[in-house]
Amino acid sequence: MENRAQWGTRVGFLLAAMGSAIGLGNIWRFPATAYDSGGGAFIVPYLFALLTAGIPLLIMEYTIGHKYRGSAPKSFGRIKKGFEWLGWWQVAISFVISTYYAVIIAWAIMYAFYSFNLTWGDDPTAFFVGDFLELADAGAIGGLVPKVLLPLLAVWVITLGFLARGVKKGIEVANKIFIPLLVVLFLIIVVRAVTLEGAADGLSAFFTPEWNRIADPNVWVAAYGQIFFSLSIAFAIMVTYSSYLPKKSDITNNAFITGFANSSFEILAGIGVFAAVGFMAFQYDTSVGQLAAERGVGGIGLAFMVFPEIVSQIPGIPGLFGFLFFASLVLAGLSSLISITETYVAAVSEKFNVSRIKAVLLGGGLAGVISLLYATRGGLSILDTVDHFINTFGVALSGLVEIVALAWLARSIKGLKEHANQTSDIMLGNWWVVCLQVITPIVLGYMMVQNLILELSSAYEGYPVTLLVVGGWLVAIAAIVVGVLFSMKKWPNNELEFNEDED
Ligand code: PHE
Repeated sequence: MENRAQWGTRVGFLLAAMGSAIGLGNIWRFPATAYDSGGGAFIVPYLFALLTAGIPLLIMEYTIGHKYRGSAPKSFGRIKKGFEWLGWWQVAISFVISTYYAVIIAWAIMYAFYSFNLTWGDDPTAFFVGDFLELADAGAIGGLVPKVLLPLLAVWVITLGFLARGVKKGIEVANKIFIPLLVVLFLIIVVRAVTLEGAADGLSAFFTPEWNRIADPNVWVAAYGQIFFSLSIAFAIMVTYSSYLPKKSDITNNAFITGFANSSFEILAGIGVFAAVGFMAFQYDTSVGQLAAERGVGGIGLAFMVFPEIVSQIPGIPGLFGFLFFASLVLAGLSSLISITETYVAAVSEKFNVSRIKAVLLGGGLAGVISLLYATRGGLSILDTVDHFINTFGVALSGLVEIVALAWLARSIKGLKEHANQTSDIMLGNWWVVCLQVITPIVLGYMMVQNLILELSSAYEGYPVTLLVVGGWLVAIAAIVVGVLFSMKKWPNNELEFNEDED
């Protein structure tokens, strides 16, 4: 038997999985997506996506990690030799994402401090792109931005520091601190936000259902996209984390708990964000709809342009509100960054037979150096492009490939079902198989075609073609190529061998 690292407690694993799932996507992606996709009516496609794809796939990835006990390349390779590249592909995607995710956390660290004296002044948007990022033209690289370097260094030191300490003493400890703290800080924000003037208008804009939107297929695609991203599925993360579960673990229950906790946090974030946006609309004597249309209520713009403006206007102690908000982004971000970085730390250390510390220094060091690219004056548009393409033609596409490979080509669903049922309270029935073999591939396949049409019909964000080709298409394709190349190397000590009856 191999001597594999293990979580110390069940709660430790759950907090780590939640820590991965709860990220920037919950705070700045979900509220905007729900608002744009039917408000309160979005709950129908959202819950449907959660129950037919999110949780079933999470159960599948937990089962794979638990059964095959390896990083994503090793686990997929143990299912079928020819699938190892799929694991490496996902690891490569995660590597790419980690490089810019770290930079966003670095910004948030600076903004947490800026909150105290409202450094961004009267025009936070001009401050963000001008004073802070010293932005150059889209696609240009330009020099390094000094303000981002120090916090970026801190982000990597913290992340790699915890990873170097191992699964139980590092990752688990980090999440046991970060996640409870995040929940407390965020609850304070939400309570403050809903007691602001105008909050009710924000909430009603967020929750008022537009039922007719349910007929729009795009709304369903948005729901599946959100669930996928939010649950960190097809990032190689959940397979890696569950490979550290002890033999006797309730897989299915764990997946339900992770899924519902993550969604609860999303809805909480929706309430906090929209209460605050309602307050802003009230201040400007405009409507939430108008404000949302003009300024946008998601992504980097929400966090670093709209929120500072809101913070500045909060009565009482604005600095504290701002600090809590950006500190929440930092905590949510760090726990996700730790999880995504662990995917390549685990994979490299297994395949190249090196210690965890070496893998952390090698993989994390390389990611750290590459992340400097986004700390340059042209970094923002590069970041935006890489993010868009690696998510659409990386995460979502590899999710589709994963499900087709496992559910159809390898016919591994039955074996996984039996494995999960051995240790779980909730029994997986045919519903699980139908979700994975039929519903999810159809929706994901449709989504892929839609995305491709959209991508080819117009230049993303109107960016220069060179930027889209290099930062978008080439990076996405490189992840596949890297995946294939890494899978060609031989494993040390025949580690890929796996005896199905042994588990
Ligand atoms: N679920 C994460 C989020 O919502 C997705 C993610 C995980 C992104 C890990 C980056 C790193 O932000």
